[in-house]
Formats: sequence, C-alpha cells, structure tokens
Amino acid sequence: MKISVIGTGYVGLVSGVCLAEIGHDVICVDKDKTKVDQINLGKSPIYEEGLSKLLTKHINSNLHATINLHNAVMESSLTIIAVGTPYDGDAIDLQYIEQVSKEVGEILKDKKTYHVVVVKSTVVPGTTDNVVLPLLEKYSGKKAGLDFGVGMNPEFLREGTAIADFMQPDRIVLGGIDNKSQSKLDEVYAPFSDTDKLKTDNKTAEMIKYASNSLLATLISFSNEIGNLCAKLGDMDALEVMRGVHLDKRISPILKNGQRITPSITSYLEAGCGFGGSCFPKDVKALISHGANVGEKMQLLSSVVDINNDQPKKVLNLLLKHYPELENKKVAILGLAFKPGTNDMRESPAIPIVNDLLNKKAEITAYDPVAQDEAKKIFGTKKITYSKSINEVVKDVDAVILLTRWQEFEALPEILNACKKIPLLIDGRRMLPKNCLPRYEGIGI
Ligand code: UDX
Repeated sequence: MKISVIGTGYVGLVSGVCLAEIGHDVICVDKDKTKVDQINLGKSPIYEEGLSKLLTKHINSNLHATINLHNAVMESSLTIIAVGTPYDGDAIDLQYIEQVSKEVGEILKDKKTYHVVVVKSTVVPGTTDNVVLPLLEKYSGKKAGLDFGVGMNPEFLREGTAIADFMQPDRIVLGGIDNKSQSKLDEVYAPFSDTDKLKTDNKTAEMIKYASNSLLATLISFSNEIGNLCAKLGDMDALEVMRGVHLDKRISPILKNGQRITPSITSYLEAGCGFGGSCFPKDVKALISHGANVGEKMQLLSSVVDINNDQPKKVLNLLLKHYPELENKKVAILGLAFKPGTNDMRESPAIPIVNDLLNKKAEITAYDPVAQDEAKKIFGTKKITYSKSINEVVKDVDAVILLTRWQEFEALPEILNACKKIPLLIDGRRMLPKNCLPRYEGIGI
C-alpha cells in the first residue's frame, strides 16, 4: 500500500521505516527540511537501536521523505498522522494535530479517490472524532465515511526497543469510524497475521493507549509507595517484599511442568527513583486533566503523579542522612537518561536530583554512556563536570548516586571498593547488591 506518514519524530520515523520493512511504499513528511534531507541521505535524526540499518535499507527504494504534504497525500491511499502532542502544563496541546488536520483536509478537497486518515499520535479520547474528523470535513468539503475514512491506531513502542516492538507487536489496535476505515487499516498490518488485532471505534482506541500507560505508571508508583513505607518502618527491604509479591501465581504463573514464568511486568513492580520519559508523565497528566474537564476526579492517577514527583526527594534524603551539609561535597551522578538504551532525558529523575544538588552547592561530576550531550543542553557545561568513564567520574567523590540501570554500572562495586576513600553509594534503581559496599543506601531499605 502507498502510505504517507506525517511527522518524522520518534513515532513517525520508526513507523515509516518499519512500514517500509513490511513491504509498503512509504512517504514520510515533515516541515523541517534539514530533517527530511538527512533522512533522504539515509541518516536518522534520532538514535534508536536498529533504525539506521532499516533506514539505509529502504531509503530511495520504497521509502522517501519530503516536505511536500500535498503530493504525499495525493500519491498515497492512507495517511498516518504522527505529530507531537505535548502536555502544556494544563492539558494536552493539540495545535499540531489541528494544523495537520486542516492541511490534509484542504488536500482531500482535490482528491478523487477514497483516502483514509489515521491518527497515531497519542491523543485524549474523543480527539480523532471531535477534532480531527470535523476539521477534515470542514477543509475538504467532503463527508467522512463517504468520501474518506478516519481511523485511530495507537503505538506501543518503547524507546530503545521501538523497532522490535513494531516488528513483533503484542497487539494492534485498529480504531475506525466504520468497517471500511478499519479494513483499510487492517490491510496495513496484514503481514502480522498471528498478532491479536482489536477492531474498535476511535475513542476506545485512544483510551486503550492511555489506560495502558497509566497502568504501568501506577504499578511503578505503587511499588514506590510500598518501598517508602518499608524504609520508614525499618528492618526490611522493599526488594524482598516485592519479590514476594511477584511470586503470586497470578503475576508469575507456574506452568504444568512446575516451571515458573517471570513476566516482564514484574520489572514495573520495583521501587526506584521514579518514572520519566516522553510518555508516562505526559500521558498520565493529560488523562487527569481530561477527566477534570468532564467532572471526573482521577484520584488514583493524581496520586501516581504526586508519588512520582516526590520520589527524587527520597534519593536526596538518603544522601542528606550521611551528609547533612552538601556544600563542597563531591557527588558523582551515574546515569542521566530516563532509562537505559536511550539518550532521552525528558522527565528524567536525574533532572530534579541534579538541580537540588546544585542548589545545595554540591560539586557534581556526571557520567552517562550516551546522554551527556542532552544533559549539557539542560544543565549547561559550567556547573557539572562530565566524565568519560565510570572510573573517572567516581574519582575522589564523597558519594555516588546511581540513577539509570545501565548494564555497565554492574562494575561499580569493584571500582568503588578499589578507591582509596570508598564513597557512599546511593542506588536509585536497586540495581546492585546491598552488601556490595561498606556504605550502601537504596530506595526501599
Ligand atoms: C512507554 C510504554 O512502555 C510504551 O508501551 C508506550 O508506547 C510509550 O511509553 P517508554 O516511555 O519508552 O515506553 O519506556 P518504558 O520502558 O515503559 O519506561 C517508562 C518508565 O518506566 C521509565 O522511567 C523507566 O525507568 C520505568 N520502567 C521501565 C521501570 O520502572 N521498569 C521497567 O521495567 C521499565
């Protein structure tokens, strides 16, 4: 199928490239000419495992990038909208969705053949039917369901494993205003014949995405609340408590042969320094404010956000326990990205923690295998000394704070134990054994 994808951000580009990989003819559209040129040269503007390889494989073959939205829509039979939907502090900001809907509507005016417009951006329930569809109708002068179709197809891509998540999907949600829109969307995903597909209306499709992310965020905040209580009560460890919880056979089923399955969901059921990234914080807040708009108080999700906002302070408190005065104390931050496998620092717990340390006049050194350039954009280069290795960052420090679960940090105990003055270790992810150093502190102990 000839498909146009609007927006070459994280979701748009990964989707475009993967749609090419499954055999479609894809045109990626973006207003940013520099980005478009870069993509056409086979260079990915974002870092994502495996993306460059697939981009190089398909570019100038069955994948092209352009700034010409008109041609892209005219030449394709289905358009995927994958533009940003930021949270503006109060609610979801739909300005890019609205703009694109108007522009696509204008183009549909000239189109003689049936076309389907699909929203892939994460949008609050009702947006596709109440914002996108009316704008398409208004600017095209045509009728949805008659002259063109409208669908909603949420993404479930994790940063760092987005290509694998697209190519081996756990589910495909096919929202649409009618059978014709859903069927056209279904054709896009025909190669995934073994995957569970859920055909539904657009509003439900939108809600599935929010409910999915909100559940995972809730599990994390739940685990953090339990962890914080364990720490307060003393003489116990949240890690052990949660291990016990994981062993519930409804969470970790036991097969007939007695073998235990440990599902990956258990990794969201661990205490730590809190969730971040481009999705969980933004999506949970957007759903809370969407609920408030219709008079529904989202009490649980409000607490999920509150707990998460407090979690970085718990890390700092562990440091203050040992060093009540941080002025001129040397603190090494290990891990800046919101999770391993990415250089993304959006809503990373490292941001409030570093800012607090700076306010308390600590001397900060920092190391992250890939996120240091991002960190420099946020904190600048003057206040923090960035290091090239774990060995360098921990040199002569009073304390080390581990904030991202990078695998290479497993070497920390050996490196720290070899230091002349062994620093305090604060494990914000409960990644290392708690007896690995003379002074170890972790969330939930
Ligand atoms: C998330 C959803 O997982 C994905 O389905 C959706 O499409 C977009 O949002 P992403 O933000 O890339 O993806 O990251 P994810 O790996 O889910 O991590 C989100 C947060 O949860 C991070 O702060 C991370 O540290 C935390 N997390 C993640 C855990 O605490 N445990 C884990 O096992 C994984």
